Formats: sequence, C-alpha cells, structure tokens
Amino acid sequence: MITLATAAVGVGAVAWPFISSMEPAADTLAAGAPIDVDLSQIEPGQQVLVLWQEKPILIVNRPPAALQALQSKAMIDHLSDPNSKVPQQPPYADNWHRSVQTEWAVLVGICTHLGCLPDYFPNPSKNTPVADWPGGYLCPCHGSKYDLAGRVWKNVPAPYNLPVPPYHFPDPKTVRVGQNPPRVTWSLNDIVQI
Ligand code: FES
Repeated sequence: MITLATAAVGVGAVAWPFISSMEPAADTLAAGAPIDVDLSQIEPGQQVLVLWQEKPILIVNRPPAALQALQSKAMIDHLSDPNSKVPQQPPYADNWHRSVQTEWAVLVGICTHLGCLPDYFPNPSKNTPVADWPGGYLCPCHGSKYDLAGRVWKNVPAPYNLPVPPYHFPDPKTVRVGQNPPRVTWSLNDIVQI
C-alpha cells in the first residue's frame, strides 16, 4: 500500500490534473481526516486524483454519454456484478451509477486483484490497448477492466468492483471525501475487499 500510495502521487501529478488548490495540508492527510475537493475546476470527462488516507481517490465528471453507456445492455453484458450485489460501496451508492450524484463518480483507485492503480480511458475508441473499448478503466498490471462506475468486467483477474469511499456533498461545488452524508454510519472497513 505504501508503494501504491507513492506511485499514485507521481501518476496523479503527471498524467491527471492534480489541482493545487485541492491539495489538503500535510497534517490533514496524515490524520486521515476528510478532504474537500472543489468540483468547479473539473470539466465534463475529466478525472482528478486526490489522496485520502494514503489511498488514490478518483473523481470523475461523467458526461451524459458516459452515463448512457453505463446503462447500455452492451456494457452491462460485460460486467461481473452490474447491480453491485457485493457490498463494495456505501448504501447511498448502491445504485446503477454507484454514486450519490449521477454525474460524479468517486472511487478508490485500487484494483481489487492485487492493488494496482487502474488507468483512465474514458472514451470509446480503437486507439486504446483493448479493441472496441467502450470507455472505463484498464488495469496496467494484469488487464482487469472496469466501467466508469468502477464495475468490474467478467473474465478478468479482479474479483470485485472498485470500492467507493464514504463521501458527501456539503455544497453543490464541493465533495467531501472521507465523511458520510448526515445520519449515515458507514466505514470503508465494511466492504468485502479493498
Ligand atoms: S492488479 Fe489489477 S489486474 Fe492485477
């Protein structure tokens, strides 16, 4: 996990926006306290990576086309657990989009096979490592695939969907990672596997 967290910082800095105003103070990170992320800087289709409790947290602004793809039969037929029957998410993200708000995905970027950081390939394209790619995540270590809700494909090494961390929206432009909505008690320790 230490290796992963270190790698995540590097990858986030190079490949994905890691907006400086989102970086929490070092003492906040060390304490594992919730962190606030300003959503106003994340464009549709864009992903940012932040660290919470030394875990890479992937926050994606999913455009309407991506949300349509999540509901398509073609995509669902690919998936091992399309209805999130395995509790890899809090109760408020137990839905087809695995999130609180449909457009915002908030996922723990730790592959459920052996813990690598999955790469973000959001656009259906033939210019990806996989032919006829519908958009989603591809793990560079052993090829596990996930959709843009973190739902794992069939017949890949990873057994479970990507975890969803506790989070909520204290206001429309902010996501607070590490804290449940009011009156909800849930912990990442409640999932099957991280
Ligand atoms: S760690 Fe992701 S496929 Fe093995």
